[in-house]
Amino acid sequence: MSTTHQLDWKNLGFQYLPTNGFVQLDFVDGQWGQVEVKQDPYMPMHIAANCLHYGQACFEGLKAFTTKAGKVVLFRPDRNAERMRLSAERICMEAPSNELFIEACRKAIEINRDFVPPYGTGASLYLRPLLIGTEATVGIKPSSTFSLIVFVTPVGPYYKDGFRPVEALVMEDYDRAAPQGTGRAKMAGNYAASLKPGMEAKKKGYPIVLFADPKEHSYVDEFGTSNFIAITPNGEYKTPSSSSILQSITNETLQVLAQEMGLTVIREPIALNSLDQFSEVGAVGTAAVLTPVHAIQYRDRKFTFGDPDVAGATLTRLYQQLQGIQYGEIPDTHEWLVEI
Ligand code: PLP
Ligand code: COI
Repeated sequence: MSTTHQLDWKNLGFQYLPTNGFVQLDFVDGQWGQVEVKQDPYMPMHIAANCLHYGQACFEGLKAFTTKAGKVVLFRPDRNAERMRLSAERICMEAPSNELFIEACRKAIEINRDFVPPYGTGASLYLRPLLIGTEATVGIKPSSTFSLIVFVTPVGPYYKDGFRPVEALVMEDYDRAAPQGTGRAKMAGNYAASLKPGMEAKKKGYPIVLFADPKEHSYVDEFGTSNFIAITPNGEYKTPSSSSILQSITNETLQVLAQEMGLTVIREPIALNSLDQFSEVGAVGTAAVLTPVHAIQYRDRKFTFGDPDVAGATLTRLYQQLQGIQYGEIPDTHEWLVEI
């Protein structure tokens, strides 16, 4: 299966592009069926499907890369499979095993090999596994049938300038998640909740929102689509410990790399009024990779971190190390890459 397509690999944005197809598997009668390849990107669904009304929907995001040696690799898919199970458990859904999740991802890549950006373009193939409750339910109860879909799309940087510093706004009028809510789960509804603050921040000229902890509104939680990390002048890598943020696989990976570089990794509550302790701040995630943040506007205070045009030295090293491993330029000593 292959289409002729002419993509400008070096200038891809972060958006849905049509591909050769996607994969789907359904959970019916208490068991998962076969991984099926589909082409039509529209799917028939019952108008009372639980995911449409009551939000039984969670998803993942991971990337495949073409390495320097010309192999196609997926980055840490087992961690995404595990997080999908955590999300599913929180909203009473059935999740696939790691093996089934990875098999579905593998198949979605195999049928779209010609959409995996070539090495040297700086682009990657973004995979979007989506799990939805499909049973027709009107009374509030969990669905007993589910679909797992994995579609792919070739992507460039999430923020248009790539590894260039952006400015963030602390949005105090809205919370992304509740203190004992679903912030740790990668649920569709969390993103619906972040749309309005995101749009308001954009209107004010900030591409990225920083959410405060939803209980006290005094601590840093995370950005709308990425975790918060920060570097102090004495070589510390700090990231918030909070029960309402997503456990980012990029952040987890960078913590390992930071330790290997001799930084001290500290997970602790970070007060919003203590941001002046940092010399570098970054937004980290699969889509955002590591986006430097050169300023954070908090009430009438503007905290700044280094040069507004150039990323700081420590975040640059971390970024290069992460991407170097993903593109097979640096040995993958942790066995994070899975060859397709
Ligand atoms: N936080 C939020 C709210 C996200 O949407 C994402 C993206 O997945 C992340 C953090 C980063 O997680 P990861 O590094 O696993 O992609
Ligand atoms: C990701 O980085 O995979 C995300 O989920 C962020 C996003 C585009 C929702």
